[in-house]
Amino acid sequence: MKRLFIALAGVLCIGATGVYVFTQASVSSKAGDPSYSIYYNIAEARASVIPEDIIEERAVPSDVIPITEDEVALSNAYASAARSFFAKRNEVDTESEAKESDPFENEGVLEEEAIAEDSFEEETSEDETSDEPSFLHPALDTDPESITVLVNHEYSLPEDYVPSDMVSVNVKFTCSEKEDKRLMRKEAAEALEALFAAANEDGISLCAISGYRSYERQNRLYLNNVRVNGKEYASRFSAPPGQSEHQTGLAMDISSASNGYSLDYELADKKEGKWLIENCSEYGFIVRYPKDKEEITGYAYEPWHFRYVGKRLAEYLTMNELTLDEYYGSKAAGEDLGYSD
Ligand code: DAL
Ligand code: ZN
Repeated sequence: MKRLFIALAGVLCIGATGVYVFTQASVSSKAGDPSYSIYYNIAEARASVIPEDIIEERAVPSDVIPITEDEVALSNAYASAARSFFAKRNEVDTESEAKESDPFENEGVLEEEAIAEDSFEEETSEDETSDEPSFLHPALDTDPESITVLVNHEYSLPEDYVPSDMVSVNVKFTCSEKEDKRLMRKEAAEALEALFAAANEDGISLCAISGYRSYERQNRLYLNNVRVNGKEYASRFSAPPGQSEHQTGLAMDISSASNGYSLDYELADKKEGKWLIENCSEYGFIVRYPKDKEEITGYAYEPWHFRYVGKRLAEYLTMNELTLDEYYGSKAAGEDLGYSD
């Protein structure tokens, strides 16, 4: 049974305006393996974010990797999105009983191509030999190198998986030129460049925020997110390591100057966000975590997270309002994420 271990050690720091006690936390999913470190204020830690019973005070390990400023910024963005999401959800809950969402209510919009719920048990050899996605009997795709790979709470990527053909995407970014966040797999990168060029022609100015992330970086982001938001909320906005599409090199978080380059719900109301949602499938991208599909995807609405799946599948999923999880018949939500007792 996995368990999150957090080691704390107080460090006395002299700040410009006084004396503060900061805490360095080394976090790992394995006992005795404190691989990563996160810095935060001891009062905040004790305030309830991290349960007392998993806090263990000990010396700071020598090989800790401090979390970087942009990772803290991203965690803060997730925290802000989490607050806004749950505030809105509470408003809806108090106004009326939330309508029970039916994971398969949109199935069969294209009747001749409708996916049978049990189609996964009926994979044919014909499907396996075809390069094109089969809409009648989609074979579950967990090959990390495949453009149509499914990555979610149910299907994880190998810890050591790094895409083989990544290139730097030639579009506007907020990050510096050297960062891995500019990387995507070649086919996805070319599609993203075409998407940005088409947007530009329509007078829409987009900005890429974050593409490829290694397993290790996702681990640090996720664990910091747990610290900021608590485990339950963090897992709705941030994927545990191995479960992020960013590790495939097929996903990009996108925002705009008009939205302050933020990854939040306001983006969906801006002309840039609307343009993206309307046009992304023509370039092979889907809104991977759509509104009102949290029960299926396991993640809250992310109008900024675009996943490349190829034009044909993107248009099919968009037209039928299907998530990739539904397409493959995966019950992504509600799984034990393996981070609790
Ligand atoms: N925010 C998405 C779910 C990720 O962390 O990959
Ligand atoms: Zn994302």
